[in-house]
Amino acid sequence: MKKLRLGILASGGGTNLQSIIDGCAAGTLSAEVAIVICNNPGAGALTRAETAGLKTCCINHRDFTRRSDFDSKVVKQLQAANVELVVLAGFMRIISPVFLEAYPQRIINIHPALLPAFPGLHVQQQAIDYGARFSGCTVHLVDAGVDTGPIVLQAVVPVLEDDSAEDLAARILIEEHKIYPQAIQLFAEGRLLIENRRVRILPKTPNRPESSDEPEGND
Ligand code: GRF
Repeated sequence: MKKLRLGILASGGGTNLQSIIDGCAAGTLSAEVAIVICNNPGAGALTRAETAGLKTCCINHRDFTRRSDFDSKVVKQLQAANVELVVLAGFMRIISPVFLEAYPQRIINIHPALLPAFPGLHVQQQAIDYGARFSGCTVHLVDAGVDTGPIVLQAVVPVLEDDSAEDLAARILIEEHKIYPQAIQLFAEGRLLIENRRVRILPKTPNRPESSDEPEGND
């Protein structure tokens, strides 16, 4: 199977990036990381990418006055690397229309809450303060809103009585590292069918052997 070329955008520590790098290396993900782009020169994600020998690029958003100019620069780098799917992995910038038009329904994000509950920032603390018994994470396609795009996969974790935001974030991250590579693999296999805002997951089609001694034709 041809490997899907991923462009990963990250701002922080890069544990989700790492789960994708590991999935590619293990062969559970039919993908390759074509480029890792960070907007923050101090991002741990950059170090992880360099350690894995990946192509990296740092585009500091502070060097741009207009969001669309920053996004155009990022899009140019993604296109130069022949990226097929843009993966936001802790990328703390809002995506502008320039970006959405360049990669329609080809930008995916992970959010550390069960959308549509708790979009935006500091969502683990929001879930605790609200008194939610469960939270989790959501992989979704990116649209023009903030954390509003069609949902691909979700995973649930309990919120425990004495949880700090850090405790809950750590429990959620364990699930993020499972469902993000799974969702990307579904995309790579062409199994995500978007119907309005619902994403239908198509069944896996069996791989035909490339050569076979079996006679061809119907029984
Ligand atoms: C994750 O919790 C992700 O859901 C959110 O940002 C965090 C990034 O963590 N969008 P990491 O940089 O992948 O470790």
